[in-house]
Amino acid sequence: MSVETPSLNRRTLLTGAATAAAGAATAIGMASPLAAAATAASARRFPKGFLWGASTAGHQIEGNNVNSDLWLMENIQPATFKERSGDACDSYHRMDEDIALLKAMGLNAYRFSIEWARIEPSRGHFSQAELDHYKRFIAALRRAGIAPVVTFYHVSAPRWFAEAGGWLNPESPDLFARYCDRAARELAAGMAYACTINEPQVGLTYRSFAQSGDYFKKGDELQERAHAAAAKATNVERFVTMNHPAIKEMTPQLMQAHEKGYAAIKAVRPDLPVGVTLNLVDFQPGNEGSKYKELREVAYGPWLACAKRAGDFIGVQTYRQIRIPGSGAPLPPPPEVPYVDQKDMVETIKQPTALRNTVEYVHEQTGKPIFVTENGIETPDDRRRVWHIPATLKHLHEAIDKGVPVIGYMHWSLIDNFEWLAGFEMQFGLSTLDHKTFKRTLKPSASVLGRIARANAV
Ligand code: BGC
Repeated sequence: MSVETPSLNRRTLLTGAATAAAGAATAIGMASPLAAAATAASARRFPKGFLWGASTAGHQIEGNNVNSDLWLMENIQPATFKERSGDACDSYHRMDEDIALLKAMGLNAYRFSIEWARIEPSRGHFSQAELDHYKRFIAALRRAGIAPVVTFYHVSAPRWFAEAGGWLNPESPDLFARYCDRAARELAAGMAYACTINEPQVGLTYRSFAQSGDYFKKGDELQERAHAAAAKATNVERFVTMNHPAIKEMTPQLMQAHEKGYAAIKAVRPDLPVGVTLNLVDFQPGNEGSKYKELREVAYGPWLACAKRAGDFIGVQTYRQIRIPGSGAPLPPPPEVPYVDQKDMVETIKQPTALRNTVEYVHEQTGKPIFVTENGIETPDDRRRVWHIPATLKHLHEAIDKGVPVIGYMHWSLIDNFEWLAGFEMQFGLSTLDHKTFKRTLKPSASVLGRIARANAV
């Protein structure tokens, strides 16, 4: 098993308000032992008010995010991106079509991101027209009975922000907080949940285990050269995006940014639940003597502490289980999963227990309600997704049964989209996309998720 899988590649190198509040309270309220017992009594029913949704991010679906740092990186040599995001799914102009997909599935929530690069296209200049665009979208979701779960920052930043040193810039937390304040003043009233920063630790987490070492050496060199080329092209000292290898040095600013962003949003709307979303690999032992627990501490400890300090919930995003070797005898291999793709080099990648394990772990470490803000499977073979969704949810239900308060499950992703460095080839969607006509077509897995969501049971 090597960690040089295409997915690891992409991931690590990239890098009615009142109703909403009531929904949030109900979901968080399920933390009580009484509520948990009630859930256990009715087999595999999810808590009342559970949110069922799909997840996306602006840069990956909207198209033409031309003021963003990544748009520049997509057009720079040496190339780190396989292709350009271009029109992506044209979701910027096709909000109604995306809402129609959610409705057709019977989902009651949608996680998406607002694009900082559109809202603040140049430093200190906020675009009312773009804020109004997102306001219309949030209102349309509300009208459709879909709770908006809004991420303020999902990998892509304004180009001016990267030109000023990105997250290496000591001013970056305040710049982020100012954007959060402005966006929240315009948009928070319609939100059901807010997420500050998406996966600020993903680069650190993947660098924290030995198997990934060689890979990072190669990838980081390329990223260094591409970022240096971007700095030259924009005539600045350093151009820094989330894909820059200096993730360790960015982390103090990212943590402060989350805390300040959290405070800024809460100041505008104290009753809005706000949290950070973290990428959690389910580390498990491969051999006796595996130090996987210590690894979890290194990979997640500091961010879990930060998320606990400033957060009403913690967003858990899990895609894989990785077995960490140890000095002793090998442990029994994990159960086989159906529809294995020969391209999968990580044999445990699709274990449906992974999400349950990370959800339980994060709750145990923080005591906070958990929101599954992403979980999914990358495959062109939708039979695998059809299998993966109920298999994962059955295990997630076990965590809920044990009393872990889980607010909702947002499947990544609503639609096949721009998968960062890997481009459009990697498919995570519940619906396909025709790149010429932008026509969306729901896959069989969409009916599977829809059936579960409508029944609120698996
Ligand atoms: C990211 C998404 C990405 C997904 C699938 C998550 O790490 O938040 O932007 O597309 O994984 O790789």
